[in-house]
Amino acid sequence: MTTESVSARELVYRRLQPNAHVPDLETYKRMHRESVENPEGFWGEIAKGFYWNTPPTGAILDYNFDVTKGKVYVNFMKGATTNICYNLLDRKKQESDWEEKIAYYWEGNEPHDCSTITYSQLLKEVCKFANVLRSLGVQRGDRVAIYLPVIPEMIYSMLACARIGAVHSVVFAGFSAESLCDRILDSQCMLLVTADGFYRGEKLIQLKQIADDALEKCKRKKGFVMKKCIVVHHLGNKLRSGQEQAHCKVLPLLCNPDIDVCWDVLMKGASEQCEPEWVDAEHPLFILYTSGSTGKPKGVLHTVAGYLIYTAISFKYVFDYHADDVYWCTADIGWITGHSYVIYGPLTNGATSIIFEGLLVYPHMGRLYEMIEKYKVTKLYTAPTVIRMLMKFGEEPVRKFNLKSLKILGCAGEPINPEAWTWYYNVIGDGQCPIMDTFWQTETGGPMITPLPAAIPLKPGSATFPFFGVLPAILNEHGEELQGEAEGYLVFKQPWPSILRTIYGDDERFEMTYFKQFPGFYLTGDRCRRDGDGYYWITGRIDDMLNVSGHLLSSTEVESALAEHSAVAEVAVVSHPHPVKGECVYCFVTLKDGMELTQSISDELKNKVREKIGPIATPDFIQNAPGLPKTRSGKIMRRILRHIACNEKELGDISTLIDPAVVEVLFSQRCQAAA
Ligand code: PRX
Repeated sequence: MTTESVSARELVYRRLQPNAHVPDLETYKRMHRESVENPEGFWGEIAKGFYWNTPPTGAILDYNFDVTKGKVYVNFMKGATTNICYNLLDRKKQESDWEEKIAYYWEGNEPHDCSTITYSQLLKEVCKFANVLRSLGVQRGDRVAIYLPVIPEMIYSMLACARIGAVHSVVFAGFSAESLCDRILDSQCMLLVTADGFYRGEKLIQLKQIADDALEKCKRKKGFVMKKCIVVHHLGNKLRSGQEQAHCKVLPLLCNPDIDVCWDVLMKGASEQCEPEWVDAEHPLFILYTSGSTGKPKGVLHTVAGYLIYTAISFKYVFDYHADDVYWCTADIGWITGHSYVIYGPLTNGATSIIFEGLLVYPHMGRLYEMIEKYKVTKLYTAPTVIRMLMKFGEEPVRKFNLKSLKILGCAGEPINPEAWTWYYNVIGDGQCPIMDTFWQTETGGPMITPLPAAIPLKPGSATFPFFGVLPAILNEHGEELQGEAEGYLVFKQPWPSILRTIYGDDERFEMTYFKQFPGFYLTGDRCRRDGDGYYWITGRIDDMLNVSGHLLSSTEVESALAEHSAVAEVAVVSHPHPVKGECVYCFVTLKDGMELTQSISDELKNKVREKIGPIATPDFIQNAPGLPKTRSGKIMRRILRHIACNEKELGDISTLIDPAVVEVLFSQRCQAAA
C-alpha cells in the first residue's frame, strides 16, 4: 500500500467525520471499553431507546459461558416484555414523516417490475397477515416455515410471525425439497408460506412444486404437524395483470385442497388492526438453519430483545445510518445477512432500503450499478463473491452509470482478497467510500469484528476491531489465551445481546459445538491472527466446513448426498480455491468394484447434491479415487486431499497414512481443470 493511497483514505474519513455517530478512533475506544467493562450500563442505556411493555425485573445481562459450572445460558433484559414488530413499525408512528416514509423499494427480476412500500403500508400488510395467521390457529411459540423468493410477502410473513409471537423459520428458496423437508420436520413447523414460482434471470423456479415435493416427503415422517400451506401467486398475479403471458404454465397451483390456501384470498377480508403479542425479552424470534460439521444442519435460535437491540445498533454504527440514506444489502433474505440487514436492522432505524428479487447481472452485467444510480443508493452491503463476479466484467459496465451517491460500502460472509478489496474500493467506490469488512456468523446475529466508517482506519483484508459489547480472544490449542501479536482460535469471552441461545431442540449440541472445547469461551470455529496494531485477520475455518460464495457448507453433508448414489463406495469432499466463489466443492469418489467414473455418473452425482441440498452445493470437480488417504484409525486426511486438489506436492508429514502410495495415484488422476 502506498503512502499516497493511505492519505487519500484519510481524506475519506475526514469527510465522514463531522456527521458520524462514532467520529474518531478515541470515541470508538472509549465506547468499546465501556461496553465490555460495564455491559449492564452500556446496553441498559441503549435499551432506553426502545419500547418495553414492562421493564426488566433483574440484571440486563445474565449468563454462564462455562460448561464446567452448569448449563450455558444467556438472558438479556430478563423479565421485560416487548414486541419486536411493534418496535420496528408502530414505535415511530408519531414522527412527522413516518406515514409516507419509504421502507422498501422492491425491484423484481425484470427492471420494469418494481414497487414501493411505505412504513404505513408495511404495518397494514403485516397486521393483515398477522390476523390471517391467528385465524389459522397460529399461536405464540408456534413455528412457521417461510419458503419464498425476495418479494414483499417474505417481509410481511416474517414480521407477522414476530407480531403474534410465532417463530419464523425461513428456508432460502434455493434449497431443495429434501432440505426444506428436513427443516420443516426438525422444528415441527405447523404452517408453510410459499409462492407459485419466480424467475432468477431467465430461469424459472417452480417453487410450489418443490414445496409440494417437500411436504410429500415430510408426510411420512415423525414431526409432521403441517396444517396449512399458504401460496403467494407471485407469477400468477403478473399474469392476471396481463403481463408476461409466456408464464401461463405456472398459473395457480393450489393442488392440495386439504392444506393449500391462497394468500390473496386470505388477505382480502383481513383487518388492518392487530394487537401485538407482548412476549418476554427472551422469547424465541426465529430459527435459521446453518450447516454444521456433522452434516445435520443446526437450527440456530435467536430471541427477541437481544436480536432487536444488536441489529439496530450495529446497523446504525457500522453503516453510520442517517435519515436520508438509501441502503441496499444485496443478500437474500433467506440468509442471516438478509434477516439482520434487509429487515430487522434497517426497519428499527426507520431506514429506506432496497429489496431485490433478481440476479445482479441480469438482464445485463451492469444491473447492480444501474440500480445504485436509479435509487441513489448511499450505503451498499454485499459479499466478496459478488465483487469477484463483477470484476470479471471489468470497469466498462461501471462507467456507464453514476455511482456518486455511494458513501459507505460493506461486505460479509467470507474473507475478501486484496484484489477484490481494491477493486471494490477504487472502481465501485471511486476511492471515496470506506469498506466495512464485517466478520460475523449466523450464530452471532450481527457483526463481531468490524470497522466503523469514520473511526477505524482500514487495513484491506482485516475486519479490524471488535464491535461494542464484543470481547475477542485468541487461544492456542491448550486453551491458553495469547496476548499481543498472535494466531490461533478465535473465541469470545462474554456474550453480546444477539448471541444464539441454543440449537433448536438440541441444547447438548449447542454446548458441544460452541462451549465444550474451551470452557468459558464461545468458540467461533474460525482461526484468526492479531497483528501488532491489534487488528484482527480471519484466516480460515478450524473444521471441515466449506465457504462457497459466502455460504457455509459442511463437507459431511455433501458427502452423505454423494454416498447415496448406488455406484459410490466411499467419498471425501474438500474445498478448493475458486476465482469467483472463493471456495468450491472438490470431491474424491471411490466407486464400487467394476464401476467407472463416466461423464454420466459424474452428472448423476452432481444432480444428487442438487436434489439433496440445493444448487449452491453443486460440486465443481469430481475425481476418481481408487483409494483415500487414511490414518491407521481410519480417519480420512482431508488436509492431504486439499493439497492434491490444488496440485501442491509439498504434503508435510504423511507417515501416519496406512498406504502412502495412494497419494501418488490421486495426484495422477486429479481433475486437470482445477487450477
Ligand atoms: O468463516 C467465517 C466466514 O463465514 C462464517 C459464517 O458464515 P454464516 O454463518 O453463513 O454467516 C455469514 C454472516 C455474514 C464465519 O464463521 N466469514 C463471515 N464473514 C467473514 C468471514 N470470513 C472472513 N471475513 C469476513 N468478513
